[in-house]
Amino acid sequence: MEITIFGSGYVGLVTGACLAEVGNDVLCVDIDQRKIDLLNSGGVPIFEPGLDALIARNRDAGRLSFTTDAAAGVAHGLFQFIAVGTPPDEDGSADLSHVLAVADIIGQNLTDYRIVVDKSTVPVGTADRVAACIRERLNERNQRHEFDVVSNPEFLKEGAAIDDFMRPDRIIVGTDNPRTGELLRALYAPFNRNRDRLLLMDVRSAELTKYAANAMLATKISFMNELANVAEAVGADIERVRIGIGSDPRIGYQFIYPGCGYGGSCFPKDVRALERTATDTGVNVPLLHAVEAVNHRQKDVLFEKINAFFDGDLQGKTFALWGLAFKPNTDDMREASSRRLIEHLWQAGARVRAFDPVATEEARRIYGERADLELLEDQMAALEGTEALIIVTEWNQFRSPDLGAVRDQLASRVIFDGRNMFDPLQVANTGLTYVSIGRQA
Ligand code: UGA
Repeated sequence: MEITIFGSGYVGLVTGACLAEVGNDVLCVDIDQRKIDLLNSGGVPIFEPGLDALIARNRDAGRLSFTTDAAAGVAHGLFQFIAVGTPPDEDGSADLSHVLAVADIIGQNLTDYRIVVDKSTVPVGTADRVAACIRERLNERNQRHEFDVVSNPEFLKEGAAIDDFMRPDRIIVGTDNPRTGELLRALYAPFNRNRDRLLLMDVRSAELTKYAANAMLATKISFMNELANVAEAVGADIERVRIGIGSDPRIGYQFIYPGCGYGGSCFPKDVRALERTATDTGVNVPLLHAVEAVNHRQKDVLFEKINAFFDGDLQGKTFALWGLAFKPNTDDMREASSRRLIEHLWQAGARVRAFDPVATEEARRIYGERADLELLEDQMAALEGTEALIIVTEWNQFRSPDLGAVRDQLASRVIFDGRNMFDPLQVANTGLTYVSIGRQA
């Protein structure tokens, strides 16, 4: 099948490469000439495990190509995916200007039936706005071509996106036209074998499903973070509580890890956008509001522990930081807990020596060269000449360090762990003080 994908960002590239991998002819369109040049010359503008090889294989096979020619994009695919960004506006609502710009282009160039697929995370009602926009452009041209607008939200996790696309838990398709639903079913058939995972529903329910899923997951995390603070105060260990409650299948073990707050480009943005959608329609959502507030607060908890340990005197001290990315297996630092922590440390007059397996370049891009931030290529090298070790991202390679060697580098012999990576007893036995989340020191 012929497919066009507007937007060669994270979602667009993963979607395009995976759809090409199963034999479709995919054309990716982006307005950024440099990005398209990079893709055409064999580069990939984002870090995602496995994506380079997948893109290269399909590009070489002639099934995946890249262009800035939007009209060629509209001519190419029966399916026109919209996978452009929806950054938050200042009031928290999603900025739809990029989505509607693609709708304009489709309306201006449409000459035949097309299925427009909203893949970007967009507020309820966006499919209707996209349809209205295309219809307006068609009217201006005195054209009456048929088209449908479908909501097909993505559920990709950064770091595991290709697997999530190739082996989805569910494929949500929101359409009010049963025939279009069947065409989407055919498109997704290669990813939908053995058990039917495709859920057909009306457009608005599909749009809301995406926000509901992310808000539910964010709620689980904020709940656990709040409980972690309770556990600490009452002399309990949140890690035991986590295992205790996770054993109930109604609760489950997934997504109940306490930590130093959730980050990334999705949860913070989507919780705020859903809150905004609700209040705009006159619905009170105190729970969503609390999820966001708890998370905001949790991003300060580790710093407060550090500050308390050093009696508020961080001036001139140097700290080692392991982890910059908002989670492992990505170089993404959007809304990462590391950022708030680093900025607090700087404000208190401290310096940071940071290591991350892939995100140091991103940190350099965000913060530039500065005297109070050193970015190291090696996790042990980051410890040299520092007061304490702080961990904010649970990369696997941090799980089993030589704790004796760590101890010998840290002047104050203390680890502040925002991800509860170690057994407190084991750390204590090495002669280190261990400060983690929701547990007794
Ligand atoms: C999230 C969802 O998990 C995806 O299903 C969704 O498709 C995606 O958003 C999206 O809307 O595009 P992602 O942002 O890549 O995916 O990251 P997650 O793996 O969900 O992690 C989000 C944050 O929650 C991270 O900062 C992580 O450290 C934190 N987290 C996660 C916890 O603090 N505790 C947990 O138990 C789990």
